[in-house]
Amino acid sequence: MNVHWLNGYRPGHGLPRAFYTDPEIFAEEQARIFRNSWFFAGHSVELPKSGDYMTLDVGGAPVVVVRDRDGKVHAHHNVCRHRGSIICTKEKGKAARLVCPYHSWSYAHDGQLIGAPMMGEDFDKQAHGLKRAHAEEFDGLIFVNLSETPSPFDELRDHLSPILKSQGMAKAKIALIRDYELDVNWKIVVENNRECYHCEANHQGYVSVQYDSENDNPDLKDEIAERLGDCRIRWEKAGLDTARVNTSSNNTSEWFRANRTPVRKGMVTESPDGQLVCDVLMAGFTDPDMGTARANTNINFWCHANSDYAHTVRITPVSPTKTIVRGYWLVDENAVEGRDYDPEKIAAFHHEVMSEDWEICRRQWIGITSPGFEPGPYSPTKEANVDRYVRWYASQMTA
Ligand code: FES
Ligand SMILES: [Fe+2]
Repeated sequence: MNVHWLNGYRPGHGLPRAFYTDPEIFAEEQARIFRNSWFFAGHSVELPKSGDYMTLDVGGAPVVVVRDRDGKVHAHHNVCRHRGSIICTKEKGKAARLVCPYHSWSYAHDGQLIGAPMMGEDFDKQAHGLKRAHAEEFDGLIFVNLSETPSPFDELRDHLSPILKSQGMAKAKIALIRDYELDVNWKIVVENNRECYHCEANHQGYVSVQYDSENDNPDLKDEIAERLGDCRIRWEKAGLDTARVNTSSNNTSEWFRANRTPVRKGMVTESPDGQLVCDVLMAGFTDPDMGTARANTNINFWCHANSDYAHTVRITPVSPTKTIVRGYWLVDENAVEGRDYDPEKIAAFHHEVMSEDWEICRRQWIGITSPGFEPGPYSPTKEANVDRYVRWYASQMTA
């Protein structure tokens, strides 16, 4: 890559403007990061049966993710090996075989070419299977990686699963999916997500339920300690992993993190008043006060899973100046809409937080793209996660 791009970057500070606007840098990111990392594709419950598929954009490449007859999930480039048409044209569907709409070549779920009419007797079907990507599924989450030599997935699964496996996302259903189209660079969204320095001034609803903006408030020290102590005892009895129970939002690993945090005293979930928004708890929980299981990964995923619903996010960069953020809200598979929950009430808390964040991002975008912008320093305590993330990003771009 053109190393001059990073000449203006001072570690401990934000990135220079070109990283948010330059099409050449965006193309490098798509190749070096998005087509070379574990990308959150969606939820297992979106593909419940054999032949169910979803299509998505991964680093600018059309990809199809499909479940086979044995329940295994496969990811392929959604590009026909004949003359390059995309094959699955819908965002979600079901197909016994994947049939190209141009000349009807057909592929098995594992990507093998099984039908290619009139191609002659010598034609080698074996050599024309779909180009494969890597797909991994755990605890109701599906990740894909287009690299031929992907980084080991086990380290991610082994770190996140102890926190997420008890949340029941594998046996959930989607209550709501909402796409937010933002006219900002994707890194503006991720950087904003990596700190709560801005929470006190911008997220009244969020800080009234979570402790993370007040970890260092001496007035709350005793309350937080008492709350953590009580929760650890109950959660351990319930069989949860309590090694990472805290109220911190600090990174717990290099490119991903996971922990479990209690919500404020007297509250049980992330909702406007801290009380349940779904009457059926996830994963067979009987105690509603199970805190929030939180996780994220570089590059495009975060999750807040509560006892009654889970909220996840998938980020897709579209161009240097356009990003689609997909919000998912899941409830237990036995919950009935209208009886046990209202999707709008399930979504209310995080929809508010995100709407506040999108306004922050919009204002920052005006400044970053103006002549007066010069990257400033990060707070060593409140923005350590952002600094770490930007350093990781710089390392990926220069690797
Ligand atoms: S391009 Fe797919 S069958 Fe021809
Ligand atoms: Fe925020």
